[in-house]
Amino acid sequence: MLNIREILAPIAGELTKVEERLRDTADVQYAPLAEVVRYVVGSGGKRIRPALVLLVAKFYPADFEKVVYLAAAVETLHSATLVHDDMIDRSLLRRGHPTLNTFLSDGATVLAGDYIFARAAGFAAATESVRVVQLFAQVLQTIVDGELRQLFHPTDGLPSREDYYRRIYSKTASLFTLATEAAGELIGASTSEVAAFREYGYRLGMAFQIVDDVLDFIGDEEELGKPIGSDLRQGTVTLPVYYFAERYPDHPALQNYWDGKPDRETAVQRLVHAVRESAAIDEALNEARTFAADAQAALTSLPDIPARRSLLALAEYVVERRR
Ligand code: IPE
Ligand code: IPE
Ligand code: MG
Ligand code: MG
Repeated sequence: MLNIREILAPIAGELTKVEERLRDTADVQYAPLAEVVRYVVGSGGKRIRPALVLLVAKFYPADFEKVVYLAAAVETLHSATLVHDDMIDRSLLRRGHPTLNTFLSDGATVLAGDYIFARAAGFAAATESVRVVQLFAQVLQTIVDGELRQLFHPTDGLPSREDYYRRIYSKTASLFTLATEAAGELIGASTSEVAAFREYGYRLGMAFQIVDDVLDFIGDEEELGKPIGSDLRQGTVTLPVYYFAERYPDHPALQNYWDGKPDRETAVQRLVHAVRESAAIDEALNEARTFAADAQAALTSLPDIPARRSLLALAEYVVERRR
């Protein structure tokens, strides 16, 4: 398997430009705000979403400036959602650094997130494509819808599996879909090509979030740069738990989790352990593999250029990744 650096080689130069655009805060008047923006968007991260934009943009000659703006828009939108997500989850670590909510009040964190959302909207508008701005607005609505559903979903038993797929589409796959679809629109790809890019982004995003959910059980905190076990701690039930509950519906760890016995944290840790040791992890990963294979299949009719090979390899990387 190629490593991520090899996969992104065809767009290495472009990614540097995106990085510059992300970190450029020359327009931010208030110095502490500029610092916060640089802290959030410059804190690393795998840059998968902007990479998707740049790879899709390789299929047709395109206005490079606009492509960079779209890539920056997608990554900035992602970063803003993480600021709010971490505050809502009371999470302390992101990309190996303390989250904003560890050193800012909730009010300031919300506003900083809003500011970053506004920057993302500005980048989207800089593509001068109404279609891109429409897609961007729709996806932001979808993401918030997903986060709210997650916040409100029942905590006394398993929500339906459809509910799970809808949640992961909303919070994650929708943004992957935006990255590939909007890039296709921006470069003037044909309707069927845009549909193929869209399908690829959707399937890849579903695989990506399933793996994120698995890593929340088996990941290494240091390598991931964020806490593990946090989904169950927040009452969020993910795919490995569905498989676990199917196999062992009467498992005491499951029962104790719903009851919060003997205490909530012990119940969470026991269930994390039980799931981690079970076949549920591999079953969930297999499902991610199927999504990834379907993502690859969506690209069948596209020309065999290096960017296509990278998109295919990215689908493998997403499943095998450990961070
Ligand atoms: C984290 O996304 C949030 C999810 C959708 C799971 P990434 O794993 O892409 O986060 P960074 O950008 O690399 O930090
Ligand atoms: C977050 O998904 C996706 C967002 C839209 C913010 P997760 O809650 O699983 O992301 P992590 O695990 O905190 O990165
Ligand atoms: Mg989270
Ligand atoms: Mg997660």
